[in-house]
Amino acid sequence: MGRPTVVTLPGDGIGKVITPEAIRVLRAVGFDADFVPADIGWDFWVNEGNPLPERTVELLAKHRLGLFGAITSKPKAEAAAELSPQLRGKGFSYFSPIVALRQRFNLDVCIRPCRSFTGNPLNFIRRTRNGFEEPSVNAVIFRQNTEGLYSGVEWTNPPEAVRSALALHPKFKPFAKVPGEDLAVSARIITRSACRRILDAAFAYARRFGYSSVTVCEKPNVLRETSGMVEEEARKIQKEFNDITLRSTNIDAQMMWLTKNPEDYGVVVATNLFGDVVSDAFAGLVGGLGFACSGNIGAEVAVFEPTHGSAPKYAALDPPIVNPIAMILSAAMLLDHVGEEDKARRIRQAVAAVVREGRVRTYDMLRLPGGPDVIRQGAATTTQMTDAILAQLDSED
Ligand code: NAI
Ligand code: MG
Repeated sequence: MGRPTVVTLPGDGIGKVITPEAIRVLRAVGFDADFVPADIGWDFWVNEGNPLPERTVELLAKHRLGLFGAITSKPKAEAAAELSPQLRGKGFSYFSPIVALRQRFNLDVCIRPCRSFTGNPLNFIRRTRNGFEEPSVNAVIFRQNTEGLYSGVEWTNPPEAVRSALALHPKFKPFAKVPGEDLAVSARIITRSACRRILDAAFAYARRFGYSSVTVCEKPNVLRETSGMVEEEARKIQKEFNDITLRSTNIDAQMMWLTKNPEDYGVVVATNLFGDVVSDAFAGLVGGLGFACSGNIGAEVAVFEPTHGSAPKYAALDPPIVNPIAMILSAAMLLDHVGEEDKARRIRQAVAAVVREGRVRTYDMLRLPGGPDVIRQGAATTTQMTDAILAQLDSED
């Protein structure tokens, strides 16, 4: 790979605040790349009727690497009301540009590492016989991003052809007489090829980063066909990775075990809805939104982003108060993706050192309600947090 170009997609609200912070860190760590800003989000909806302009799609198709901040989404009617007057009534309809990006480039593998940093006051603690202990969590969730219950094939009052097709299944009998408007159906669609891609990515990651197991988190005892297919493919792919153990948990039991033994999980794989659930659950153990990073990886394009949204209520605060760490860790994932593991590791080590020292903490880490007042109460600004990480990087040089 030659000198990479990263398409930066700040988006809305705090997305615009944290994206430049991540770029500062990428530059400081010596990542030799060009950064090209691209348009995405609310302003482009309002002024062009399209929150994901075609020129942005073209840039991503060309450069294949994106660093995304966050966007603001609003319900359809509200979105339509904010459209600039000359565009109203012309058939524009709002859609989430990040969901559209995932579909457009088939970003089917979503990776969400959930690692606890020692000294983070937001870390999960567990009661022991004589006190408390803080398990060290190092789980990486692989969520299938495009299929499953989120494939969007759903109806209220399904058309007759759908009802007849469903009636071919004996288990549909109790529903056969329900009036259409009282019947809603969402299809859980799983393909073998998508199963293979996510499982292969998960096993390869486990091997590359030294995890000894991959845990498939599904519900094959009930969802025999769809979860069953995931498990079947997992067993096949494990044969190509015989240094890595394949484990299996049920999503419901996993949620119960989560707080009992989160330190026992490494790479975890799940279909779309279960992956959404399990990754938020693990993220909650290691600091929540200020720490939760992710990558959306397709065969060609990859886009890295914090999992939080645009937090509009903090967007205009000056100085900004939000935690840039989720975004900075997402940038580190981008480095891993392009084979710059050393630089990625240095960033994570610098973040770890700042968190461990505990002198610089954003408001979320102090458990303060957000607002302009938090600085007076001892919280670091967004910039101060990045500065501390940069200083740490410097001191290692
Ligand atoms: P949000 O993630 O923007 O914020 C929820 C709360 O979490 C904030 O009020 C704040 O207290 C905290 N928070 C978020 N990021 C933080 C950070 N970096 N540091 C410290 N605290 C942080 O979710 P919300 O309020 O539900 O949605 C706001 C907007 O963002 C909506 O328009 C929503 O549609 C959109 N959204 C966009 C996403 C994306 O771009 N991928 C994901 C989730 C929501
Ligand atoms: Mg979610």
